Amino acid sequence: MSIDINKLKQSIQDDYLKLYPNSISDFNSLLEMITKSYSFRDENQLISNSPEWIHSANTIGMMLYVDLFNSDIDGLVSKTEYFKNLGITLIHLMPLVQPRNGENDGGYAVRDYRKVNPKLGNVESLKKAIKNFHNNGIRICIDYVINHTADDHEWAIKAKSGDKKYQDYYFMYDDYTIPRQYEATMNQVFPKVAPGNFTYVKDIDKWVMTTFYDFQWDLNYRNPKVFEEILSILLFYANLGIDVIRLDAIPYIWKTIGTSCRNLPEVHVILKIFRTVLADFSPSTVLLGESIVAPEIIVRYFGSNNGLECDLLYNASYMVEIWNSLATRDTRHISHMPIINHELSTEWINYARCHDDIGWGLDESKLRELGFDPFMHKQFLIDFYLGNYPDSFSIGELYEYDPITKDARNSGTLASLAGLEKALAEKDLYKLELALKRINLINALVLLRKGIPMIYSGDEIGLLNNYDYKNDPKKKHDSRWLHRQNFDWSKLDNIEKCDSIERQILCNLKRLIALRTAHSLGSIIISEKIIQVENKHILIIQQFRDEGNELLLIFNFSEDRQFLNTSELRRQGINSRMVDLLQGKELNFEKEQIIIGPYEFLVLKNK
Ligand code: GLC
Repeated sequence: MSIDINKLKQSIQDDYLKLYPNSISDFNSLLEMITKSYSFRDENQLISNSPEWIHSANTIGMMLYVDLFNSDIDGLVSKTEYFKNLGITLIHLMPLVQPRNGENDGGYAVRDYRKVNPKLGNVESLKKAIKNFHNNGIRICIDYVINHTADDHEWAIKAKSGDKKYQDYYFMYDDYTIPRQYEATMNQVFPKVAPGNFTYVKDIDKWVMTTFYDFQWDLNYRNPKVFEEILSILLFYANLGIDVIRLDAIPYIWKTIGTSCRNLPEVHVILKIFRTVLADFSPSTVLLGESIVAPEIIVRYFGSNNGLECDLLYNASYMVEIWNSLATRDTRHISHMPIINHELSTEWINYARCHDDIGWGLDESKLRELGFDPFMHKQFLIDFYLGNYPDSFSIGELYEYDPITKDARNSGTLASLAGLEKALAEKDLYKLELALKRINLINALVLLRKGIPMIYSGDEIGLLNNYDYKNDPKKKHDSRWLHRQNFDWSKLDNIEKCDSIERQILCNLKRLIALRTAHSLGSIIISEKIIQVENKHILIIQQFRDEGNELLLIFNFSEDRQFLNTSELRRQGINSRMVDLLQGKELNFEKEQIIIGPYEFLVLKNK
């Protein structure tokens, strides 16, 4: 095996020179680095097949913090059977390289990209773990934080010591003149806990760009050396046998004065080069982009026919739509969500919860069209998921509340946001039943759609919010720790008790996973279409799969029985008898009405 560096050179040169005109010597140095990195490849460590697996129905992900899940990498490996039993075939290990000492944003402030956090293991134990998971049919994803390093990363330390070379790795200024120009058009990511985008560093009497926390120093991609370093680390991860590399916070990586410094065209050029290099260097490695931005902007990160960028992207808009429809019991907004039947080489990651907050990024013009005031509606959602709204089933917390604009996001676990915590606190059996149904509905919405489902560890057994973070000075200002907690293995003892809540949630989830992977659903979904109906509580999705298979998914987002007028469906060509693959019941669309129970969903196939 070898890499055809001349061919690669041809395919990336134009793009590279767009970013770094007149930088031929840097380009040559980049090519040398790629050739050298290739010489470290160990074929035994890699899965040789192509990335086709991302479209398979068997691909089901779980994301977790290694320490919170089961102490360390060895502890993770010891739970291999747990994943297999559940049907998990992709594990996203949240930041596991060496983080900053002290506060580190859950590991997203990296001190050393090439070392594993010593509390979790080392590079050798990671390699062994990857091998073990590969042998068990499980692929591994890790985070790669490319927008910033920690302020105690070697580069930052050298910059602080006055080394000009490394000062150019960051955005550092002697006074506030240039920062002020940037600030004029930049928004704030953490307006409450880390206001502004620059931090004054007293030791060196300079201002440093820090879009996120003040200890996360933004890397300067205008410097070709930074580009080379970052690509070189990417290839290092590919050589470890990592299957999916999650590129953190990609919209932010290129900065230009006078712009929002988000989603700039150069970001796409950088991603295109990464993708092209990887295709030659390590064809089975997949890029997952984290770009939690407006729906129409997210999709641009898949790239185009002129060049692919990310193979996978988070379907953040769908996640927000799910929670919005649950609060309003109204599916009109989600029903109008554009469905992107993009090329088969890319795929969405569908999810309901993750380690971050929920930001209410709904399409505002659509909201207005439907008669909602976007500002008031956002206030409603924030209140609803706090549990403050009179009719709310939810218990959550505010994240990044801005008292002036009243803007905020929400934190909380899937189960608590979906009603389980409140039902248990009120000892209300009816509410408990509804909460369990709601959780099952959410899981179905994630598992049955086109894309890779990603389960957030703990949600499979309905872990509730954990308030301990408030006692930890390093965490208490960041409510995302409400849903970042130790996996409670003792809850699994309850699994044996047939009526336990954990068991009900887990069994329902397993049933959905089995359905997804079973023969009837195992086919690749080619495209999807939303069927519009009068009843605003119901969402209907038609799926077209390979080998001519078609399915109809029907979801009731309300706690009341709903009547579906079948003539609306007949008009759209759905007129046969169908059978529900989960419950086995038959439905006749020639009849006038179909009744859908509270939070019921149906997975229908022609009889
Ligand atoms: C990503 C992570 C988030 C982190 C941020 C800064 O958005 O998901 O947890 O705070 O990047 O690295």
